[in-house]
Amino acid sequence: MFAISSPAEMSKPELYAHLDSQLQHLLAGERNLIANAANTAALLYHSLDQVNWLGFYFYDGQELVVGPFQGKPACVRIALGRGVCGSAAANASTVLVADVDAFPGHIACDSASRSEIVVPLLADGRLLGVLDVDSPVRGRFDEHDRDGFERLAASFLAATDFP
Ligand code: SME
Repeated sequence: MFAISSPAEMSKPELYAHLDSQLQHLLAGERNLIANAANTAALLYHSLDQVNWLGFYFYDGQELVVGPFQGKPACVRIALGRGVCGSAAANASTVLVADVDAFPGHIACDSASRSEIVVPLLADGRLLGVLDVDSPVRGRFDEHDRDGFERLAASFLAATDFP
């Protein structure tokens, strides 16, 4: 069984480096998209404080469709350019929202969410999906989290085959 450990006294950069190492070990030897996305969501959700939703949306060629996640049931389809997820996907860059109530077009799947970060998943410039993380705390995510989630997304992509 894979044991999750993330010592509380770590700085954010240390925590993300530790999580990245755990993630690479967790995904080693398996390249299936659903298996790796499910285990990535479970590892990160259970290792991070003040997170109420964490998971994937995958691009089906037309729009984003929800994939493996941890948290409450979510909106299934999001058009490119809509909400935080659609913005990150359309612009191919991470979107960090300190206060979702101040983000025009934010899509409220879980009414408890107050801040959010969305990292696009790209392979040679091709959009594959996004990694979406919601927090019930305003201002939960900063530049360390952006660097950390981008690093984790890169490790997930390197370990996984997309159809
Ligand atoms: N809030 C997101 C929608 C997805 S949920 O947070 C799971 C958005 O505005 O795109």
